[in-house]
Amino acid sequence: MRVIDSVAQLRAALDPIRRRGGRIGLVPTMGALHEGHLTLIREAARVSDEVVVSVFVNPTQFTDAADLAAYPRDPETDAAMAASAGATVVFAPTPGEVYPAGFSTGIRVGGVSEPWEGTARGAAHFDGVALVVTKLFLMVGADAAWFGRKDAQQVAVVRRLVRDLNIPIEIHAVPTVRDADGLALSSRNVRLSAADRAKALAIPRSLSAAGAAVADGETDADLLTARAHEALRAAGIEPEYWAIVDPDSFAPLTRIETESLAIVAAPVGGVRLIDNELLSP
Ligand code: PAF
Repeated sequence: MRVIDSVAQLRAALDPIRRRGGRIGLVPTMGALHEGHLTLIREAARVSDEVVVSVFVNPTQFTDAADLAAYPRDPETDAAMAASAGATVVFAPTPGEVYPAGFSTGIRVGGVSEPWEGTARGAAHFDGVALVVTKLFLMVGADAAWFGRKDAQQVAVVRRLVRDLNIPIEIHAVPTVRDADGLALSSRNVRLSAADRAKALAIPRSLSAAGAAVADGETDADLLTARAHEALRAAGIEPEYWAIVDPDSFAPLTRIETESLAIVAAPVGGVRLIDNELLSP
């Protein structure tokens, strides 16, 4: 496995594979790899001749400088973990390589990027994600890219971006990987104390309760939302949002008639957690 930090070297490494008709898979990450990322890499490795894992803490998608500074970074461990899951290239560029002096281009995906995470983190968040993902798609020239469903709104934004800009890449969304207790894996979980981690379990429980109710025939999204807020407050968690939305547009729903998505963001012990669950009537 090679670790590459420049676009020129990346293209030199991948061009021969592309010329031979090999399939190139991309797993974009910001590092601090965990089992969730490894699942994406394994999925990519199953169907790709070359698997590029990008490790880049993208400054343009952070709206809070303290959050950017505190983001966990461990490049050696990331490279070893990526290799163990089947990565053939780790692309770890510097901020200057991705955004050279004079960089002046922006990308905005309207609509789906605006509510929920777009409002909570500010419009700059998904602008930054759309920009870096587009750059990674162009730099790698991948046939397919893998994303985690935990960031469901990000996946919807990326799908919209790819459709709107006719980017020739398949987007795969892989189910969220959870710890045995149900908490969705996240690079931010390492910042939770044991007590806050236990408290955070009310988040996946609120989603599963909604999933079970919908499977039992409940269709009233407002009722389920009210119940979830109540359960979270009883656990000492004040959600930023807990809502039931259309999985593509992220527009809020009042009735659940087709497959819908329950989404939640909540701070626990100073750590902002997000999670979601598909609701199937
Ligand atoms: O989900 C992430 O880790 C990031 O938003 C991504 C897709 C790697 C872009 O920086």
